[in-house]
Amino acid sequence: MEAIEALTSRVSGSKLVEPAPNELELHSLLSAATRAPDHGRLRPWRFIVLRGDALRRLGDLMADTYRRRDPEATPAQLDKERGKPLRAPLIVVVAAKVNVQSHIPAIEQILSAGAAAENMMVGAFALGYGCAWKTGDAAYDPDIKTALGLAPTDAIVGFMYLGTNATPPEPAPTVDIDEFVREWPA
Ligand SMILES: Cc1cc2nc3c(=O)[nH]c(=O)nc-3n(C[C@H](O)[C@H](O)[C@H](O)COP(=O)(O)O)c2cc1C
Repeated sequence: MEAIEALTSRVSGSKLVEPAPNELELHSLLSAATRAPDHGRLRPWRFIVLRGDALRRLGDLMADTYRRRDPEATPAQLDKERGKPLRAPLIVVVAAKVNVQSHIPAIEQILSAGAAAENMMVGAFALGYGCAWKTGDAAYDPDIKTALGLAPTDAIVGFMYLGTNATPPEPAPTVDIDEFVREWPA
């Protein structure tokens, strides 16, 4: 698929099933991700690949941390949280390892990780896979960061759910770009 076609027609995956991108395809997606613009070449991005039992472990962790944040959580809420990572055969956690000593502001390091996540997402779409970018409270939970080997100052920018769309996704909605763009000075 042409780059501009992928960029202008990308939509999120919804129900994602096997097959996930294979090793070669995943390598391409990670290569695309690591071409994200990156102020100061700090290379702040980190990618944590989870599949199979690791997805179940993440689900357990998400349920445990949910309960810690909300001790009143019902079993149904905890089950829902536990099941979240099982909604795709592959998750790539995209994080920014923020260098707090650097003169490059943390926001720019986090933005670079966001750009890496977007490169991965558009790349997956161009290869014919579905990808959904998820965060939720789990992305900001210090215990989740620790369990994934990240520091409290690091930022999880997304849990990238990857797989094959069970049904073809709806086409992208049209956007009137004039609503968002203006010349300056007017
Ligand atoms: C930083 C970020 C976090 C997101 N987190 C969630 C999330 O936790 N749950 C969710 O349903 N959608 C989340 N989304 C939105 C979806 O990934 C998706 O972009 C949105 O539903 C619009 O669909 P589209 O990408 O097909 O236009 C997030 C998007 C971004 C950029």
